Amino acid sequence: MNGINSMEHIKTTKAVALTRYLPVDNPEAFIDVELPVVLPTGHDVLVEVKAVAVNPVDVKVRAPKDKVEETPRVLGWDAAGVVVATGSDATLFKPGDRVYYAGDITRPGSNQQYQLIDERIVGRKPSTLSFAEAAALPLTTITAYEALFDRLGIDRDGADAGQSILMIGGAGGVGSIAIQLAKRAGLNVIASASRPETIDWVKELGADHTVNHRQDMVAETRALGFHHVDHIAIFNDMRHWDTAVELIRPQGGIVTIDDTDLPMPMGGMKTKAASLHWEFMFARSMHRTPDMIEQHRLLNWVADEIDAGRIRTTVNKVLSPINAATLREAHALVETGRTRGKIVVEGF
Ligand SMILES: NC(=O)c1ccc[n+]([C@@H]2O[C@H](COP(=O)([O-])OP(=O)(O)OC[C@H]3O[C@@H](n4cnc5c(N)ncnc54)[C@H](OP(=O)(O)O)[C@@H]3O)[C@@H](O)[C@H]2O)c1
Repeated sequence: MNGINSMEHIKTTKAVALTRYLPVDNPEAFIDVELPVVLPTGHDVLVEVKAVAVNPVDVKVRAPKDKVEETPRVLGWDAAGVVVATGSDATLFKPGDRVYYAGDITRPGSNQQYQLIDERIVGRKPSTLSFAEAAALPLTTITAYEALFDRLGIDRDGADAGQSILMIGGAGGVGSIAIQLAKRAGLNVIASASRPETIDWVKELGADHTVNHRQDMVAETRALGFHHVDHIAIFNDMRHWDTAVELIRPQGGIVTIDDTDLPMPMGGMKTKAASLHWEFMFARSMHRTPDMIEQHRLLNWVADEIDAGRIRTTVNKVLSPINAATLREAHALVETGRTRGKIVVEGF
């Protein structure tokens, strides 16, 4: 293991955790704790976390229920920080490297000062961004990149330029980076947003057109001159399923990232020979797929794009410090379902 000497003083880590699953307005929804630090082995690196972002997945995992954890559970699946030690099989990073990553839903999260993480799902932090600006990106970037390029099969580098894509939920964390990736690929982007501030936000990020997901999106999209669109990304709310089926072009593709128990009639998909793709950004790490290193590569590619000035961070609000009270505040904001871009919390 590398870095062992420099981390001899690191025996415990500050962490924000939970043992009970409480409503966000309960002051005990999170607790500040100290946990032992475990040295990295295998492909793991130990990262000193400088900033974290909060995503809807944190809110879903924290959702009130009767379950009680015997040991404190750490949430948080978005971070930027500095590598302090590496496992014996780790070759991608060395102590001192600045990194950003989302992490693995099956392991303790990033709401702790020192976190173990498999290097194959870690990218180099964009050098032109602060830790807070970088922490806004990984989870949503992996989701958006995999949804557009790995699932829908859009060419990242422009071979599909001119094709159209409708993104439902354009101003959220995922939409905010997906709009930029789709524009980088040369697509014609229609993004949904329902309020003046979110409409302005998606336009600033590069959307060519906007439609309102609280109105008739079929009529609005057609009024823009698109009878059908080539691709559809449902980033929010599977109640838009029928709209997506109506608007997708014959032989086009729909990708969804949302959870749903709703019926999803497939008849319209069959007669259009359209395809449906699921994106789940934790799938590669959860199942330890042989290609999980693709997340390292895509995060590095996006870091290069950011440093070249072609993609920007999606951070919208930065809170501080990383403790139980501030994380509760960040969760409350994400729970509204009305955030633009990302909420970040920085500094222990
Ligand atoms: N499968 C995966 O790997 C994966 C990864 C990331 C996220 N997700 C899931 O994807 C969803 C979106 O994530 P996110 O981080 O982008 O969320 P987010 O940042 O919380 O999204 C907020 C945005 O959603 C829009 N919105 C609210 N209600 C809507 C509706 N009924 N229809 C369309 N848009 C609506 C709002 O726009 P307006 O204010 O303009 O209404 C707001 O800007 C969440 O359910 C999340 O858990 C899945």
